[in-house]
Amino acid sequence: MNNLVIRNATIVTPLGKHAKCGDEMSKLFTMANGAIAITEGKIAYCGSDATLPEKYLSVQYETIDAEGRVVLPGFVDSHTHLIFGGYRPDEFEWRLKGDSYMSIMERGGGIQSTVNATHEESSEALRDKAQWFIDRMVDMGVTTVEAKSGYGLDTQSEIKMLDVIDSLANDPEQKLRVVATFLGAHAVPKEYKGRTGEYVDLMIREMLPAVKGKAEFCDIFTEKNVFEIEDSRRFLKAARDAGFKLKLHADEIVTLGGAELAAELGAVSADHLLHVSDEGIKRMAESGTVATLLPLTAFALKEPFAPARKFIDAGAAVALATDLNPGSCFSGSIPLTIALACIYMNMTIEETITALTLNGAAALDLAAETGSLETGKSGDIVILEFNNYRMLPYYVGMNCVKTVVSKGRIVAQN
Ligand code: NIG
Ligand code: FE
Repeated sequence: MNNLVIRNATIVTPLGKHAKCGDEMSKLFTMANGAIAITEGKIAYCGSDATLPEKYLSVQYETIDAEGRVVLPGFVDSHTHLIFGGYRPDEFEWRLKGDSYMSIMERGGGIQSTVNATHEESSEALRDKAQWFIDRMVDMGVTTVEAKSGYGLDTQSEIKMLDVIDSLANDPEQKLRVVATFLGAHAVPKEYKGRTGEYVDLMIREMLPAVKGKAEFCDIFTEKNVFEIEDSRRFLKAARDAGFKLKLHADEIVTLGGAELAAELGAVSADHLLHVSDEGIKRMAESGTVATLLPLTAFALKEPFAPARKFIDAGAAVALATDLNPGSCFSGSIPLTIALACIYMNMTIEETITALTLNGAAALDLAAETGSLETGKSGDIVILEFNNYRMLPYYVGMNCVKTVVSKGRIVAQN
C-alpha cells in the first residue's frame, strides 16, 4: 500500500529538483510541527501538521508520530563498489606499515586481487553479500545507493556483476533504490598489462554494447599508470555516444586533469578529487559537474581530504558518498562521512546534509525524483532520534537514525 503519514515532525530539507551549488548548499527549509503524507510511495503533502488534510487521517494511512524528532530526506550514497568477492585485510595491514595503495596495485594486488576473488564467487553469493551491506546502509538512513561493476574486467564477468546489481534493484522486497554503473575501466586486467589501448578498444567494441541497458552510468579510474587522460577521453566519448551518462574517478592519487576532463565531457559527476587542480575546480563549477567527495577513502588511505571548501566557494555542487569497497575504503559509514565532512573538510552541517541528499541525488541524475521532502518526490525519509539536526556530526561516528522510510515503506527501525 505504501501510504504513510508522519506527524508532529521537525522537517529539515533542501528544496528543488537540481543540485544546489555554492552558497545555495547551506539553505535548508525547516518547519516545526510539520506533517508529511505519502500516497502510493510518493509525497502527497508536506507542510504544517495543523493543515494536514483529513483524508490522510483515514485507516488507509499508517501514522508515525515524530514528536521531538527531525525528519530529513533519505540519504543518497552515490558512489559504492557494492559487489565484490573476498576481502583484503592483508593489504590494509601492509598500508598501516607504510605500503602505498598504488604500489600494491602495481604488484598485482589491489583491484586485481578482488577481480580474481569475484571471478570465483557465484552470482548468488555476490548478491547475498551485497544485500548484507545494503541492510547496514539502510539502518544508517540510505534510501538510494549506486553500485558499480568493475571487478569483472572481461565482458562475461562484468555482465555477471551488472546482473547481480539488476537482481538487487528489481527485488520487490528491496529496501532501497539501486542505480547501476558500468566500471569495466576500473583497472587494466592482468591479461592486458602494458596494452592499455587494446583493453580500451575491447571495452568500446565489445563491452559497451553488451552492457547497454544494464547500467545507466559509465565510470572510469582516470589515474596515472591506470587510464590516463587520452585513454579516458577516448573511452568516455564512446560511452557517451552509446548513451551512457558519465562519471569519473578523478584526481584521486595524483593531479592528472580528471576534473577538467569531466567538465569537458559534461560528466554528471567527478568523484574523489583529493588532488584536483584549481583550474579543475573552476571548470567543474562552470560545467555543473557534481563534485562527489569521499572522505572515508581519504581517511582510510591517510591522504589529505578533498578541498570541499574550495569547491563550494567556487560555486560548485558538492555531494558526499562513502566509496564502500574492499580495498581503498572498506567502510560504508554515513555517520563517519558526516563527521569527517564537518570536522576535517570544513563543510557546514547544512552543506553536509544537502551533499548527502539532494546533491547525491543529482550525482545520479535523480534530483527530480528524490533527495528532498516536497510534494511529488519519492517518500524517501529519515527520522532522527533527536530533535536537532546538529546532533548529526556532534554524535561523532554514531548513528542518529531512528526510522527509515523508503518509497513510503518503513524499512528500518533502530
Ligand atoms: O574508489 N580507485 C579506484 N577504485 C576504488 C578502489 C577499489 C579497490 O581498491 O578495490 C576507489 O578508491
Ligand atoms: Fe570508487
